[in-house]
Amino acid sequence: MKTQAITANFQEANVDALAVAVFKDEKASSGVLKDLDKLTGGIISSVIKNEDFKGEVNETALVRFAAKGKVKASMLLLIGVGDKTDYTTASVSNVAGAATRFLRKRNVKSFALLPRSDGEDRDVAQNAATGFVTSQFELDKYRTKDKNTKTVDTFVLCVEGGSASALKDGLNRGQIIGDSMNHTRELANEPPNVLHPTEFAKRSQAMAKEAGLKCEILDEAKMEKLGMGSLMSVSIGSEQPAKLIVLRYEPKKSTAKKGELLALVGKGITFDTGGISLKPGEGMDAMKYDMSGGASVFGAMRAIGLLKPSVPVLGIIAAVENMPDGKATRPSDIVTAMNGKTIEILNTDAEGRLILADAVAYAEKQGATKIVDMATLTGAVIIALGDVNTAVLGNDQDLVNEIIECGKEAGENYWQLPIGREYSKGIKSDIADIKNIGPARKAGTIIGAVFIQEFVDKAKWAHLDIAGTAWNDNEKPHQAKGPTAVAVRTLVKMVEKSQ
Ligand code: BES
Ligand code: MG
Ligand code: ZN
Repeated sequence: MKTQAITANFQEANVDALAVAVFKDEKASSGVLKDLDKLTGGIISSVIKNEDFKGEVNETALVRFAAKGKVKASMLLLIGVGDKTDYTTASVSNVAGAATRFLRKRNVKSFALLPRSDGEDRDVAQNAATGFVTSQFELDKYRTKDKNTKTVDTFVLCVEGGSASALKDGLNRGQIIGDSMNHTRELANEPPNVLHPTEFAKRSQAMAKEAGLKCEILDEAKMEKLGMGSLMSVSIGSEQPAKLIVLRYEPKKSTAKKGELLALVGKGITFDTGGISLKPGEGMDAMKYDMSGGASVFGAMRAIGLLKPSVPVLGIIAAVENMPDGKATRPSDIVTAMNGKTIEILNTDAEGRLILADAVAYAEKQGATKIVDMATLTGAVIIALGDVNTAVLGNDQDLVNEIIECGKEAGENYWQLPIGREYSKGIKSDIADIKNIGPARKAGTIIGAVFIQEFVDKAKWAHLDIAGTAWNDNEKPHQAKGPTAVAVRTLVKMVEKSQ
């Protein structure tokens, strides 16, 4: 897949099709729409006049015309972007993706996009390339026939009067981020017999090599030695040994304040049966995506390694399988975590928090001063926020605000839920320091967060519950159904802005 930028008029683009963003209720009476209308013999004004196309978000109209003069294209795709005031730089990613998927289905091999965004050239190009690259990801890796073989090979971004170097830089960066998101999605889509913790570790090592990261894998013996009794209590019922994957990005010259270190920590449950607190059979297959938090850390660290920001980042993936077995943890077992706290395990299906407990404590021991963990932690967050918003909770309001703000800029939605002493009371145990569940049915997502908080010492910390947003049940105009690589763009944005 190739991307290219053009700073002249769209007529210079040597492509099969043109795609242009059109605002709601816009007429073809001026500017580039007028030029395109002329090129197509007035078809644009006629589809608008006949109300065949109104410019609503994701509305499309395909116009075929006889190629004229310099223009090689014989197809024009109008793609609605809604109200001009709602059209952000991040929206360009969806427009580019929706146009790519639409044209790909019609066997178009190359097209030029006129994004018509007011954003900075570099940002517009970055978003466009990310949308182009992520829109072509499909779930058909394991099909032997009926695979999707159609691809758009060349994407041209047309910004008349733009800066060629900024556009080129943005396209490169967008491609790195898009490819990294596709790596995340590929991991989340792997079946659990293929992607067990050992394989997750192997792929992390290969990725680290490619992206210039350091990678260390802690095995169970090492974790035992470190006192990670909480994480190990989940792994003990599985034939698959747990791995703690530690990725380090270190810039050549750091601009970070001395001693400051951001850590990204991901839940990597490669399959969640629930353990002895076994889940019902129906829908259990979905639990292969219970490693999506870890996969997002993988993708974000890959992008960071290749983009080379001037601040260090630590990435930690707790890769564990949760199975029932003769040796498995029982509800009522008590274990001791790495930070010395004792935990009464009352439900072995609340395992994500158990592995993150030791993973965040380890991150802080490695020097992290700011920790963002991400996890498909609770079914409750799906009830609360659906697949629209990721829940964010944390002990530092500035960090929570930073995530929400970076999410807006990156095109991802976050919604804050509260934490606090009243909620923390809910995990007091009668016989140990804490228990891993709270009062029945109450504030499930918050209880998960305040449990993890018990293992954060001095660091600023935020928790992202991505159970609702890591997987798309339906195809979208810009994206195949399935894994979304949620949080990757937000985290990359956060790192870039902290330079
Ligand atoms: N992996 C699940 C959370 C989940 C559920 C993600 C549904 C996606 C869809 C997690 O390990 C879990 O089982 N959580 C329990 C916690 C409960 C036992 C306190 C839940 O949400 O029911
Ligand atoms: Mg569970
Ligand atoms: Zn789980």
